Amino acid sequence: MSKSWTPSSWRQKPIVQVPDYPDQERLKTYESRLSGYPPLVFAGEARALKEELGRVAKGEAFLLQGGDCAESFAEHNPDNIRDFFRVFLQMAVVLTYGAAQPVVKIGRIAGQFAKPRSSPMEKSGDVELPSYRGDVINGIDFNEASRIPDPERMIMAYRQSAATLNLLRAFSQGGYANLEHIHGWMLNFVEGEQSERYQKLADKITESLDFMRAIGITAETTPHLRSADFFTSHEALLLGYEEAFTRVDSTTGDYYATSGHMLWIGDRTRQPDHAHVEYFRGIKNPIGIKCGPSLDPDELIRLLDILNPEDEAGRITLIARFGAGKVADHLPKLVQAVQRAGRSVVWSCDPMHGNTIKASTGYKTRPFDNILSEVKDFFAIHRSEGTHPGGIHVEMTGKNVTECTGGARAISDDDLSARYHTHCDPRLNAHQALELAFLVAELIKDERDDKSLKNTNTA
Ligand code: PEP
Ligand code: CO
Repeated sequence: MSKSWTPSSWRQKPIVQVPDYPDQERLKTYESRLSGYPPLVFAGEARALKEELGRVAKGEAFLLQGGDCAESFAEHNPDNIRDFFRVFLQMAVVLTYGAAQPVVKIGRIAGQFAKPRSSPMEKSGDVELPSYRGDVINGIDFNEASRIPDPERMIMAYRQSAATLNLLRAFSQGGYANLEHIHGWMLNFVEGEQSERYQKLADKITESLDFMRAIGITAETTPHLRSADFFTSHEALLLGYEEAFTRVDSTTGDYYATSGHMLWIGDRTRQPDHAHVEYFRGIKNPIGIKCGPSLDPDELIRLLDILNPEDEAGRITLIARFGAGKVADHLPKLVQAVQRAGRSVVWSCDPMHGNTIKASTGYKTRPFDNILSEVKDFFAIHRSEGTHPGGIHVEMTGKNVTECTGGARAISDDDLSARYHTHCDPRLNAHQALELAFLVAELIKDERDDKSLKNTNTA
């Protein structure tokens, strides 16, 4: 590595989006306590994910990444985790079927607690208080005491992440994710068009499984049928927490972040000479970089030079988030620069963060049509550039919330107040998430047909 790197070398660099802890000694005490706690994930798992993402980069697989904008202490219960996992599995099945390709499954979960904010202060009436920065940092209640950053929250976030990950590991490996249970993953409240489409698809898959069983391929003999590879991810914003979980892998001697399998750098903290990029360059995990409208192509290449000097496949996922109607202004330049530089990356589309608006009723929301429109533009641009639209990155929940407007059930501005539960950004509910998966599956199918048509024409 060029200049010497340590898990704490980020501390010598300029940094933005950091909480203002009033008691630095107390902060140190908690950080050092965390550094003695068991890791949440192993380096070998992160390497396996990197390998899978390497296949996405080559165009041989598709990435599904999704979960809460911000996990919260209040919503920590088994039903939420199970419902998220169910809808996520359903989306994965819909996409696998549509893409006829493996789908790499990464949750925004078991560690997604720290939030960058567009403003350090929040105003309500005449009162101005520090912004909420996620449950790992301060409290969402709008009062002075709750908004003071408290390092003890890191311990709670760690314990919640461990419990969440434990259940997810049980679900994915212990039989729940067995494809033979595909009908059982449907949530009770999902009905109508999405439910019917899903039931039809599940019937087809069950029929194929019956056939495979007849020729001797069963869930007992085939691990891929009875379990799912599921990985975790979060934005590594709170670097003191991340440093505490940065450990040397005894097999390779390399440093890995062990707070999650994949970490990403937010759109507000990707300055090449700042602390977050410094931290990320030293860990060997697969990493994501959010790419918003302010990222210019030269800066992107500079980031790739710093973060992936060896051009290792699967190391970098570029998560494009421009907003509906803006993809064509920004994405082609970035894709072309990456192609010119001959770099291997996964291109993923986050159609959420460029599409947040204020509804007429005052709620922060995201219209489903704009989300879909951004995904469509993302696919169209990759088609014209001849590159692989590798994945989607969405904020979603398994619950029947009313946070994003539109979708087949046409949630209106007036409906938003009914079940608006998010601690940060508006998420797709279970219907909308499944609907999006079906629509993306169609886009993937079109892309595949287009490719095979091109191949036939040139054959
Ligand atoms: C997020 O993913 O929740 C987020 C804050 O994204 P971005 O950095 O792209 O704004
Ligand atoms: Co968000």
